[in-house]
Amino acid sequence: MEKLVPAQTGLKGTIKVPGDKSISHRSVMFAAVARGKTIVKNFLPGADCLSTIHCFQQMGVPIERDGTRVVIDGKGWDGLSEPETVLDTGNSGTTTRLMLGLLAGRPFHSVIAGDESIAKRPMQRVTKPLCEMGAHIDGRRGGNFTPLSIRGGALQGIEYRLPVASAQVKSALLLAGLQADGTTIVHEPQPTRDHTERMIRAFGGEVRTEGRTISVRGGTVFHGTEIVVPGDISSAAFFMAAASLVPGSEIVLPDVGLNPTRAGILDVLKQMGADMEVAETHAPSDGEQTGTLVIRPAALQGVEIGGGLIPRLIDEIPIIALLATQAEGRTVIKDAAELKVKETNRIDTVVRELKKLGAQIEATADGMIIEGPCRLSGGTVESHGDHRIGMMLAVASLVAKDAVCLKGTEAIAVSYPQFFDDLKSVL
Ligand code: S3P
Repeated sequence: MEKLVPAQTGLKGTIKVPGDKSISHRSVMFAAVARGKTIVKNFLPGADCLSTIHCFQQMGVPIERDGTRVVIDGKGWDGLSEPETVLDTGNSGTTTRLMLGLLAGRPFHSVIAGDESIAKRPMQRVTKPLCEMGAHIDGRRGGNFTPLSIRGGALQGIEYRLPVASAQVKSALLLAGLQADGTTIVHEPQPTRDHTERMIRAFGGEVRTEGRTISVRGGTVFHGTEIVVPGDISSAAFFMAAASLVPGSEIVLPDVGLNPTRAGILDVLKQMGADMEVAETHAPSDGEQTGTLVIRPAALQGVEIGGGLIPRLIDEIPIIALLATQAEGRTVIKDAAELKVKETNRIDTVVRELKKLGAQIEATADGMIIEGPCRLSGGTVESHGDHRIGMMLAVASLVAKDAVCLKGTEAIAVSYPQFFDDLKSVL
């Protein structure tokens, strides 16, 4: 448990947030099935991405990590060998779901299991289309929950309409499609993060994107390359919020990933009236745009968030909810029922924990309604083992009247191991 005291002065300084979680996972996955050496720089050494590395090591892929630099010596798709023990995906939904797609096409048996939270997250959204492609996957409750057993092999390309806007499901199908006979076509209900598509191109493969339809052909051979992972906008969001809320702050966030499919938080902050500059932008050869953000406090207004914006900021909703408690007027977040199947049911955990600090916030069937501004009180709150709930509550403590005792801070290491050091550096 961490005792967190309200900020006494403005937060000032520069924070280089760690590498993007989604891109770090994908860099290792594609490098593992590519031919030749890949060097990944600014890799996120958070627990989730370490789970991905460990799974590939269990399948015989040589991977060396020195801090944030990872060297992967891929031997192609056939370089993966049958794992002798259960592949442990820890708390990571991205590892679990993308790995299912990748393993569906490998000619061996494997078993995937993660922690208690992973065991509650729906997997049928991935296993159903993969079985339609010809994979044999089974698990608890009709193959919907881990542990999942996969007997991979010859796959047939399919055309599939995603029932939910999910980059994890899309990516799993693309990873299977890259090994299947023929073409695999995925239609998305809304655009979701396109890091997999960009990574396919970075490793020398082909993928077609036409509006919300993405297609790949089987038989693709990837080649090792160098990947520089941008800073994670989802981690940066906690400091954007802190600087917006604590009077006298100025925080500079260099090298943050600004991929438009991820940058919905910037649109919302602007709409709320935040004082934010995107100082420099840079588009590297692997196609993931980055920039430097400078954020200062501002009087914020409530907003309405829904529709196609939701997938562009799905992981930022906990911190947006906190911002909304400090904004003038009502904030309505809708079309976000997917929050219920994240690391925790985030509609439930956000509402429950912010209420403990006195926020005026109510859950709805697909989101939440928040009335502001409201001076938060101190109290005892908990992360429920969810990294983003933990970081949101740590930022809440900066603007609370009294100390906040936060239980379950260890969960934060899933995506941001040095979060408290970075926070202390600007306090
Ligand atoms: C992710 C996709 C999103 C996101 C998750 C990471 C990814 O999940 O919430 O943190 O890396 O593809 P869904 O695909 O379930 O929306």
